Amino acid sequence: MLLSGRRNGEGRMGWQSGEAWDERYRAGKYRFLRDAVERARLDRIARLIADIASRDGACEVVDIGCGEGLLLEAIGGLPITRYIGVDLSAVALSRLPRSDIETLAICKPFGQWDGRPEASAPRVYVASEVLYYAPDAGKALQRIVGGGPAHVIVSCVAGEAGKPNWAAASRALWRELAATGWTKERAAKVRQGGHVWDIVQYRA
Ligand SMILES: C[S@@+](CC[C@H](N)C(=O)[O-])C[C@H]1O[C@@H](n2cnc3c(N)ncnc32)[C@H](O)[C@@H]1O
Repeated sequence: MLLSGRRNGEGRMGWQSGEAWDERYRAGKYRFLRDAVERARLDRIARLIADIASRDGACEVVDIGCGEGLLLEAIGGLPITRYIGVDLSAVALSRLPRSDIETLAICKPFGQWDGRPEASAPRVYVASEVLYYAPDAGKALQRIVGGGPAHVIVSCVAGEAGKPNWAAASRALWRELAATGWTKERAAKVRQGGHVWDIVQYRA
């Protein structure tokens, strides 16, 4: 996610209610996520999922903080048994795209999700530009993923001029994720339009 002036001073982290996110989605504040700059980030995540599926076979994708499901668009055509989008914004979830992939929307803070229903195939969990907003995000993600085996893909901003708080939040998140004991399988930097994201793939 861009953490530039386009976010109009929203560069602070912390839990916000579903209603607050709904309001911002209604106001069109996350339209920028459809821009080419952000697509580059989502396309990189989609390529990681494609690589996993080509190596391990069909998988189920769980998109934590899925928003309007832009990742679902990006993974069209891949061997995905089901896409589960988890988000606390009902407005965002109401905008999930139509897809040939079976889709399930779960409207709740991911920290309160029990991981059900049962997985239809080995899961790939994606947490893209969301962990900043949840308390104890690393632990909550680890609880959902459980003992694995599973793949976990996380994207966080790598730093943004004039927004040191975001870079600090990302560093804290990577430390939390390191404490999970998951194996780091791949790490990539996406640089686009003057913005940089770190994307890490773990094996749980
Ligand atoms: C900036 S958007 C990122 C959307 C998408 N993942 C992407 O990469 O473009 C953050 C999303 O996380 C959702 N969100 C924020 N806190 C959440 C939480 N605790 N549980 C679930 N979703 C959350 C918001 O509603 C929003 O849709």
